[in-house]
Amino acid sequence: MTARISDDLELAVGVLRGDGIVAIPTETVYGLAARALSREAVEKVFEAKGRPRSHPLIVHVENVERARMWGVLDERAEKLAAAFWPGPLTILVPRRQIVPDWVTGGRDTVAIRIPDHVAALAILGSLDEALVAPSANRFGKVSPTSPQHVLDDLAESIDLVVDGGSCEVGVESTIVELVDGVQILRPGAITAEQIQQVIEEGPNGASGPARAPGMLTSHYSPDTQVELCDTVEEARSLIARHRGTCELVHEPDVSAFARSLYGRLRAADRDDVDLIVVVRAPQQGLGIAINDRLEKAAAPVNAHRPVD
Ligand code: TXA
Ligand code: MG
Repeated sequence: MTARISDDLELAVGVLRGDGIVAIPTETVYGLAARALSREAVEKVFEAKGRPRSHPLIVHVENVERARMWGVLDERAEKLAAAFWPGPLTILVPRRQIVPDWVTGGRDTVAIRIPDHVAALAILGSLDEALVAPSANRFGKVSPTSPQHVLDDLAESIDLVVDGGSCEVGVESTIVELVDGVQILRPGAITAEQIQQVIEEGPNGASGPARAPGMLTSHYSPDTQVELCDTVEEARSLIARHRGTCELVHEPDVSAFARSLYGRLRAADRDDVDLIVVVRAPQQGLGIAINDRLEKAAAPVNAHRPVD
């Protein structure tokens, strides 16, 4: 099997209905979609990615009504949904009976989001069912932000890639847990401040990417060694001292930085660069999400225990 790239959405819906798996564009990264209620299809997703079965998947829905069928949305969840959906926010809430164990790895919570991409929404609408969609990369690789990235990882193991161009955001959705107070499990384009403004309750405790399964470990990992710097000067002097081929990544525009980051990391692997030197983003807004992924990409290889 070699996957095709196509912009035929009805073809994608047909493949999904037949329990196939399809890479779909979202505003964050490409997702590997399967009908959430089909055990057979979800099994293919885990198989194609090489991802452990116990790692829970995000349920993607077309509208809030369907979100309410899958999760228990309290007042805070409703407010966040109204403010940020469709958009790069995943809300973790108690699950409802419809949610199969193969989606949550048996957990009593479910992660839900409405993606903000016309193609994804059209597919969800036409299918009239929920889709799981983990990032469409092989386990341990950085997430794909273009159809070509998906093919580079998964051409032989999936049916179809829906062409939606390059992803607008470029890093995965923010995950907010609303079960045990408010916790940001993964920073993304929707910031803790924005969430706090809407629900008038701040993230509590040691908020951070520690609590979603596998999130402590580094999985946004290129093969190329990554070094992080705080300033361009520091980066330049590091590069000057280095003997092999080096690449500098410095993008002052944080939106452009997020959009291009995974492509740059993938290109460094492809071009056999020895070292990629990245200047961190300012630690605010989207910069927090960028730096989170950078820290993971730069973690020493023996600390890698890839997850998604
Ligand atoms: O932007 C995104 O969220 C992308 C696009 C395709 O929508 N999807 C994505 O999915 O990043 P994935 O599977 O690569 O990452 C989902 C993360 C995983 O780290 C998983 O552990 C966490 O969400 N997660 C999902 N359900 C969970 C649950 N019930 N409890 C805790 N963590 C959960
Ligand atoms: Mg992932």
